[in-house]
Amino acid sequence: LTNDQKKFLLDSIRDIPDFPKPGILFKDITTLLNNAEAFSLLMNHLEERYKEFNLDFIAGIESRGFIFGSALAAKLGIGFVPIRKKNKLPFTTISEKYALEYGVDEVEIHIDAFREKKGARVLLIDDLIATGGTAEAAAKLIKAANAECVEACFIINLTFLDGRKKLDELTSVYSILEI
Ligand code: PRP
Ligand code: MG
Repeated sequence: LTNDQKKFLLDSIRDIPDFPKPGILFKDITTLLNNAEAFSLLMNHLEERYKEFNLDFIAGIESRGFIFGSALAAKLGIGFVPIRKKNKLPFTTISEKYALEYGVDEVEIHIDAFREKKGARVLLIDDLIATGGTAEAAAKLIKAANAECVEACFIINLTFLDGRKKLDELTSVYSILEI
């Protein structure tokens, strides 16, 4: 993407001050999604990048990772796997806890998510990486389900939080817009 294209994408994302709590500047991607030009520019870029990766699956993190992940999986003609918050997936799961600002949360994947294909090549995707805790737990789940996380992709990287460091030993990281 050119710098102008990146700026166009960044400008399509709305900033919401003090959401969901005071002091947080929330990146609202709904204004990118409902902008046809922005959404297709982004998805076409992701398709161009990842069509050479020989991927078997895309795993998306609930909830906004589902939107980009499933759109990209359909474009690439491969399967989509949801990584969900705890107690949402109906079949047998593997879970991984991760730290939040206050307390812990947990994400899960179905034990057979990658359909017995040992070493399946998986792209992990989410809308945003902040502290990296969610993505780290998700990458661990992919490994625990006997697949290989070949890259973790984020539309937005809040670089000042240095979240990609948590993924250093698990996978490579690609982000489109850095803040
Ligand atoms: C946000 C964002 C990422 C995660 C990043 O999701 O969409 O998934 O936080 O934070 P981290 O890098 O510090 O772990 P959130 O947990 O708010 O849930 P949602 O996507 O379901 O709204
Ligand atoms: Mg999320």
